[in-house]
Amino acid sequence: MQNQKHLVHLKEGIHYLNCAAKSPLLIKGEAAMHKALDREKNLHLRTANDFFDRPETGRKLFASLVNCEPKQVAFMPAVSYGLSSVLKNVPCSQGQHAITIESEFPSDYLALESWSRKHGAPIKIIGPNDCNQPLSDWNERIIDAITNNTAVVVISAIHWMNGYKYDLKAIGERCKEKGSIFIVDGTQAVGAMKIDVKAFNIDALICAGYKWLFGPYSIGCFYMSERFNDGTPIEESWMNRTNANKFSKLTNYGMTYTDGAGRYNVGETSNFLLMPVFLEGMKQVIEWGPENITEYCTNLAIPLHNHLKAKGLDVDQSLFASHLFSISLPSNMNPNDYTQSLADHSIYVSARGSGVRVSLNVFNTEEDINMLIETLS
Ligand SMILES: Cc1ncc(COP(=O)(O)O)c(C=O)c1O
Repeated sequence: MQNQKHLVHLKEGIHYLNCAAKSPLLIKGEAAMHKALDREKNLHLRTANDFFDRPETGRKLFASLVNCEPKQVAFMPAVSYGLSSVLKNVPCSQGQHAITIESEFPSDYLALESWSRKHGAPIKIIGPNDCNQPLSDWNERIIDAITNNTAVVVISAIHWMNGYKYDLKAIGERCKEKGSIFIVDGTQAVGAMKIDVKAFNIDALICAGYKWLFGPYSIGCFYMSERFNDGTPIEESWMNRTNANKFSKLTNYGMTYTDGAGRYNVGETSNFLLMPVFLEGMKQVIEWGPENITEYCTNLAIPLHNHLKAKGLDVDQSLFASHLFSISLPSNMNPNDYTQSLADHSIYVSARGSGVRVSLNVFNTEEDINMLIETLS
């Protein structure tokens, strides 16, 4: 795959290695936003179908990325919303517990903590043996911790700070075997690597749109498996009822929810300004292909990993995502100061934990990597 920088808005001389924070705006995304604004200026052209057609297209796009039925996809404003929607429908029996990983993203952890308080069920937090050098045994530790008493496992597909790859297939199999509900935060993975809810036995997959799906902030998607189809949403929107498109009869309050995960959609799902940009993002990612993106990032990062290896700083790369990984800093260095010093050279990365998080995508170039290597030297 060739470099795709020409398709995004990034100024010359800017080395943006920070897609894990926010993807750059696609040129097509900007055009879609302009078109949407133009439509706002011509509201007389808006039809009843406009409320529902784009979300329908979005469900199909997300479904094709994660291998599920489109009707099992719902829209949300934030990962916190998706997690709360799922966890509201996760039951808990006496003696059961939840499992998550050490330093999980707050939107996941805090939703689980609320679930834990509601049910009086403890959370088991599974860490690696060594936080700075997580090894393959982290996956084994998670799998071993899942027992017949595990109600739910909440885990990110990769660790958001250092890109550690969780073995979703093995964890999903174990959850299935033990009857535990498997919830995955795909925010830092969907779009940049292959995620398959069926192959991995995932019960719910929550995914912000503004990173690897090239969407705008405040819109994302989540998959809820069929097991949640009779569940209770966290709010009641008129749009999620089967009579919603009959505008003249809305007060014949429809008592049936739309199919699949339809009941979990956030109100005002149409999101006339953000939705078109999000759709362009997902279309582009599908066109590129998540597996091709993985391969591109793997190849692009080779000189950087060679450089780190020569300095004794590299870890076993097979354990980490190729699009998101961390460079450890000596303990006397402050990651925030270091990130600022890189920004002074127009290199943009993130300080996360005790390291510097580097994230790559197909808009990054060899020059970006060479600049980082030069500055690290
Ligand atoms: C793993 C992960 N989940 C979720 C989010 C965003 O959460 P929210 O949409 O609730 O702000 C981030 C943001 O960096 C993230 O890295």
